[in-house]
Amino acid sequence: MIASIMRRSLSKFPGWRFGFGQSKSLLQVNCEAGSRCASSTNGQVNFSGNLNEYSTRTYETSCATSLDNQPKDNSVSDMLVDSFGRLHTYLRISLTERCNLRCQYCMPADGVELTPNAQLLTNAEILRLANLFVSSGVNKIRLTGGEPTVRKDIEDICMGLSKLKGLETLTMTTNGITLARKLPRLKECGLTSVNISLDTLVPAKFEFMTRRKGHEKVMNSINAAVNLGYNPVKVNCVVMRGFNDDEICDFVDLTREKPINVRFIEFMPFDGNVWNVKKLVPYSEMMDRVVRYFFFFFLLQDHPTDTAKNFAIDGHQGRVSFITSMTEHFCAGCNRLRILADGNFKVCLFGPSEVSLRDPLRHGAEDDELREIIAAAVKRKKASHAGMFDLAKTANRPMIHIGG
Ligand SMILES: C[S@@+](CC[C@H](N)C(=O)[O-])C[C@H]1O[C@@H](n2cnc3c(N)ncnc32)[C@H](O)[C@@H]1O
Ligand code: SF4
Repeated sequence: MIASIMRRSLSKFPGWRFGFGQSKSLLQVNCEAGSRCASSTNGQVNFSGNLNEYSTRTYETSCATSLDNQPKDNSVSDMLVDSFGRLHTYLRISLTERCNLRCQYCMPADGVELTPNAQLLTNAEILRLANLFVSSGVNKIRLTGGEPTVRKDIEDICMGLSKLKGLETLTMTTNGITLARKLPRLKECGLTSVNISLDTLVPAKFEFMTRRKGHEKVMNSINAAVNLGYNPVKVNCVVMRGFNDDEICDFVDLTREKPINVRFIEFMPFDGNVWNVKKLVPYSEMMDRVVRYFFFFFLLQDHPTDTAKNFAIDGHQGRVSFITSMTEHFCAGCNRLRILADGNFKVCLFGPSEVSLRDPLRHGAEDDELREIIAAAVKRKKASHAGMFDLAKTANRPMIHIGG
């Protein structure tokens, strides 16, 4: 209540006392504004929008943009270095294509075709591949999906991965539906951090977007993670015009009393998710909203491979970040590789090319043969993705198959 009164009075001074900690490159983004209304037909989101305003904003940014910023690290094998000199020390492993939610921005209304269980990587196969990557220099693994917690052997997988010598971070992106119950054990099994997805603070909107109930469970999971000492607890929020763009400041408010890092993600196009540029809320526009209401919003020094622009707010325990994959891509600093649940290896979130690691592995390939396949795919990685309009037209898997 007090916060909202403060916001209303501060809105008279847009941008007042807006502070940046570091001096970085200038970002200029054209953004469209003006639409407001969301409705649902046949389970799909329809955003109506009149693009009655066209604004241009300039903000300083901190995101990785230069290859010169790449860390030099002799412990990373050539297998993980691409032809642009990027070191890939971060592996994301999708554990399943299944999910207990049906988010409209992630999957089509009629679901996705599921790969038969026998064709998904087993726990042992995941460990064998992960070991290959970690022994070559990967120091961070993120488990994702689908929803990784629906996998019955999730605890064994975490236990096995956390024992890999050289792995510093074992993290997970989850929708939080069953996490509150499972997290204490997952922590014991070596899960070092967690990202929980939450796109709205309004239960009815949650149900509309995810086509399922469960808002309270997700909130409980966020609190459980805080209580278990995870710091920060990252909260992923995909911002969509007419759905949750009016909640941006309410999400920022969450960081006041709790060590939560709210990460606003620009809506990205994937197969079957009815992406439309009118639904995209650009980073510049999100910033406009935030700086209108919050004092002392400071840009933090980032790491060259950070995909997020990170901010602290004076007096807040938590942080706020923006993932600007659409309006300012961070391909130059990309250090990510992906293994999908069916064992396909993907070097770019937006690139359609994939190569199977499962097939050679099941045909008895030695580690060296697998390394060669991985190295060849990494060397083929492109400098950057195609740009949002081309991406929207490019065939790629639905997000639920890739895992973010
Ligand atoms: C595909 S989900 C998988 C993990 C888990 N089920 C979850 O929801 O956190 C991984 C992340 O991708 C995000 N995501 C899904 N579709 C997206 C889209 N079209 N644009 C941006 N982010 C998206 C989700 O919000 C989530 O934070
Ligand atoms: S975003 Fe996560 S929770 Fe939502 S449908 Fe996709 S995989 Fe499931």
